Amino acid sequence: MLRNGAGGNRSSHQQKHHGTDPAYATVVVMDLDDAQAVVARHALDDYYVDHYRGMERMYLASLFEYLAEYEPTRVLEIGPGWGTTAAWLVARGHDVTVIDHMPVGKFMAQSLVDELGVAYVHSDIEDAAAPENADLGTFDVVIMTQVIHHLAWRPDRALRHVRELMGERGILVSSVLDRQDYPDLDSAFGGNWMDVPEWRSTERCEDTVKCMYTEQDFRQLLENQFRVVEVWKPTDSTVLFAKSANSSRSRLGRMVELARGFKPVGTRP
Ligand SMILES: C[S@@+](CC[C@H](N)C(=O)[O-])C[C@H]1O[C@@H](n2cnc3c(N)ncnc32)[C@H](O)[C@@H]1O
Repeated sequence: MLRNGAGGNRSSHQQKHHGTDPAYATVVVMDLDDAQAVVARHALDDYYVDHYRGMERMYLASLFEYLAEYEPTRVLEIGPGWGTTAAWLVARGHDVTVIDHMPVGKFMAQSLVDELGVAYVHSDIEDAAAPENADLGTFDVVIMTQVIHHLAWRPDRALRHVRELMGERGILVSSVLDRQDYPDLDSAFGGNWMDVPEWRSTERCEDTVKCMYTEQDFRQLLENQFRVVEVWKPTDSTVLFAKSANSSRSRLGRMVELARGFKPVGTRP
């Protein structure tokens, strides 16, 4: 299972977290099943195993396939949910921070946070990039999957905050439900992200899904904040993925070449 490094036969969740220290650059070959099994052991109720785990299968394998190209680095995940991606990232040797507006224990269990050694920041990405005293610095890779369509306020505000958390050559990997695969799903503000109310301009809408996206809408939202945007849809998925960056010299340029197997549906140079 272990590919190299100083971890011996310990499994990923038994290892101490050593960030990007090359002396501990243990990379564990963990697949989606393994990551979900780790999370299921800590899940605080049945919802994860009975429902959410099945939903994750529509997109996380594709995400992991893409992220597997990255060497261990500083990664931020915004909206980790139950922590499946975080578990997989830690197993790959990444130094992982997560931000969620829900306190630890709502979705991600404290015991999982402890076992993985991730930094859990309780904060609303729509409010600010991070709490004033958090001193998070910037990240090479930011992941924000299945969060944007739940944002209560116009999503360009949250993405501005995400940009602040990205290093000069950082990359954002995000995803949304593809509207064409959910023709009957009700969204509070329909299919145009600009119709979602501006930050605190009205009462907060509590509907689960605020806005749905086509490939074109998703790209337009991201291009509103980032210079380089590529949207793709993995085969057999109901989710649109995007990678976005602000520098044409970012890792995105190189990753586009490496991301063989994905069919880009739109690229802006
Ligand atoms: C549907 S879950 C997605 C979980 C996981 N990223 C995935 O791809 O399955 C949405 C996650 O985003 C978090 N979230 C939603 N709005 C947020 C906000 N404004 N700031 C930070 N986290 C937020 C939720 O608490 C939850 O963890």
